[in-house]
Amino acid sequence: MKITFYGHASLGIKIKDINILVDPFISPNEKASQIDINTLKADYILVTHAHQDHIADVEAIAKRTGAVVVSNYEIVNYFGALGIDGHPMNHGGKWDFEFGTVKYVNAIHTSSFPDGSYGGQPGGFVIEGEHKNIYIAGDTALTFDMKLIPLQTQLDLAILPIGDNFTMGINDAIIASDFIACDKIMGYHYDTFGYIEIDHEVAKRKFFERDKDLMLLEIGDFIEL
Ligand code: NI
Ligand code: MN
Repeated sequence: MKITFYGHASLGIKIKDINILVDPFISPNEKASQIDINTLKADYILVTHAHQDHIADVEAIAKRTGAVVVSNYEIVNYFGALGIDGHPMNHGGKWDFEFGTVKYVNAIHTSSFPDGSYGGQPGGFVIEGEHKNIYIAGDTALTFDMKLIPLQTQLDLAILPIGDNFTMGINDAIIASDFIACDKIMGYHYDTFGYIEIDHEVAKRKFFERDKDLMLLEIGDFIEL
């Protein structure tokens, strides 16, 4: 499994020969200006919730690639009205895709579309694929629901928001790491806007002091599991 960071909460995941994008918000992000969305491959686009900083490039990429949008029912309906294929899910449900199993799990946040219309309830994804299991938390507060994940899935990596203000910050993400029983964390949803700037060294040290590993990737960099 290869995971590429495209800035903010945007990820590329490659499992076997399948390309998955998560929450593409790339073309409006000045910090990701080196990434050309017209070069990104996508068979599936996973969308955690309807906020602009998670869906901005979904329409353009899906229409170019024919990718299937996987998200909650309301978001899949919204993109379906634009002629985009989708696979609707809802919280607690999982589905076996060609690349592995996806479960849509709880997140504490909101989920309106840019025009204010209802975007369903926000979520995160647990992906079990190719002998590696990951959790993409989406925008969320720290929540006891995270404790449900390790009851069924032993995680190899968790991707957690750490920017604070709109989501968990560092201290809550460390507690989340305990709740999900995973000490290998990739941080996201930080530094994009003034409200969510973090001190990288302080963040990494706080995780290190708890015998945990916080990875902060440069935009365009990837990790392989
Ligand atoms: Ni959000
Ligand atoms: Mn967000």
